[in-house]
Amino acid sequence: MYQTFYSLARTPFAKELKSSEFFPSSPYQEMIARLEYMKKTRGMGLIVGEPGAGKTFALRCFAESLNPSLFKVIYFPLSTGTVMDFYRGLAVGLGEDPKSRKVDLFHQIQQAIKVYFKERKITPVFILDEMQMAKDAFLNDLSILFNFDMDSENPFILILAGLPHLSDRLSLNHNRPLAQRIMMRYKVEPLTKDEVAHYINHHMQIAGANHTIFSDNAIQAITSLSRGWPRLVNKIATHSLLAGCQAKKDLIEEEIVRLAAEDAGI
Ligand SMILES: Nc1ncnc2c1ncn2[C@@H]1O[C@H](COP(=O)(O)OP(=O)(O)OP(=O)(O)O)[C@@H](O)[C@H]1O
Ligand SMILES: [Mg+2]
Repeated sequence: MYQTFYSLARTPFAKELKSSEFFPSSPYQEMIARLEYMKKTRGMGLIVGEPGAGKTFALRCFAESLNPSLFKVIYFPLSTGTVMDFYRGLAVGLGEDPKSRKVDLFHQIQQAIKVYFKERKITPVFILDEMQMAKDAFLNDLSILFNFDMDSENPFILILAGLPHLSDRLSLNHNRPLAQRIMMRYKVEPLTKDEVAHYINHHMQIAGANHTIFSDNAIQAITSLSRGWPRLVNKIATHSLLAGCQAKKDLIEEEIVRLAAEDAGI
């Protein structure tokens, strides 16, 4: 209903944002630059950041930007399925009929990766999201599965993404075999104050806003309440639009934002 009240063509701050509609914040660009770099070096990379920092979104943009005749993307969020489902998923993603024993499955996956890279000239790109959920045994498995030390060059790209404590866990002694193989590490920063304002305007423009809906003070309030994390900005802004519409305010002021954030439990 607020869409009509504010004459918007679509819902702003929605999850279904197309990759082409990204906002070029510095953390976003840093993430993409590092991912681009991995296209050349291959091997393992790690991206960590607070919830709602924009990791999954940037990874999706990166994945969609890859030329399918040169890269084969296999995206796997750890929140779905068991570890064995994951290995099977990798085999299936590589076009294999998964073997049932784990050792055979590992061998099968490694062979399939080599065939992709050496024979088909396609680099498999594995994106493992929500890795903070991974058990140590799984992290250890990954260091075995993605060990191609006998080869002169890495035949894959593996990106691990998750919350900041994933990085702490990787620095523990027993996870060193995996940690030592990680060539690229990046911790996602929040948006700066200026960026939050531009980010809000960006989303409002995509939604077809043709006049100012958030006052400068409202934007400042969203900036401080969200601490610059994109998902929180989205949430507070959405609740503010709802509240503003209910109160029949053409211009959303700080007061509405503060009440809306409280309603949203922020
Ligand atoms: N550069 C950006 N441009 C436009 N929207 C963005 C950008 N970065 C993040 N967002 C928005 O912020 C929301 C949260 O981002 P995302 O889901 O990627 O966070 P996350 O870091 O993966 O969080 P979690 O750790 O909880 O999975 C997304 O729905 C997306 O719409
Ligand atoms: Mg995510």
